Amino acid sequence: MKIRVVFQGEEFRIAAGACDSLALALRRGGVPLRMDCGGTGSCKTCSVRIAGATIIYQGGTLRIPESESWMVRSCQTVLTGENGSVEVPASSLENED
Ligand code: FES
Repeated sequence: MKIRVVFQGEEFRIAAGACDSLALALRRGGVPLRMDCGGTGSCKTCSVRIAGATIIYQGGTLRIPESESWMVRSCQTVLTGENGSVEVPASSLENED
């Protein structure tokens, strides 16, 4: 599937496997995402903003309305389809503080 991503002011799509964490898909797609804890879910440096998508997050399935956007730890998140969008804040990029 393809995920719509907004990164540094540009919108594009990246490929993701059905079971890939969002963090893995973003990094494979060329987004230099911070992952200070290595993906254990403890640091929040991989946080991204998601709108209008259904996600699997911490064992539960959650529907984020199009009118809302939620910050989530991307290493703990799997998108269930191509709906919605993912915005990567500058604070979640490598070499940004
Ligand atoms: S990489 Fe640390 S919470 Fe996701």
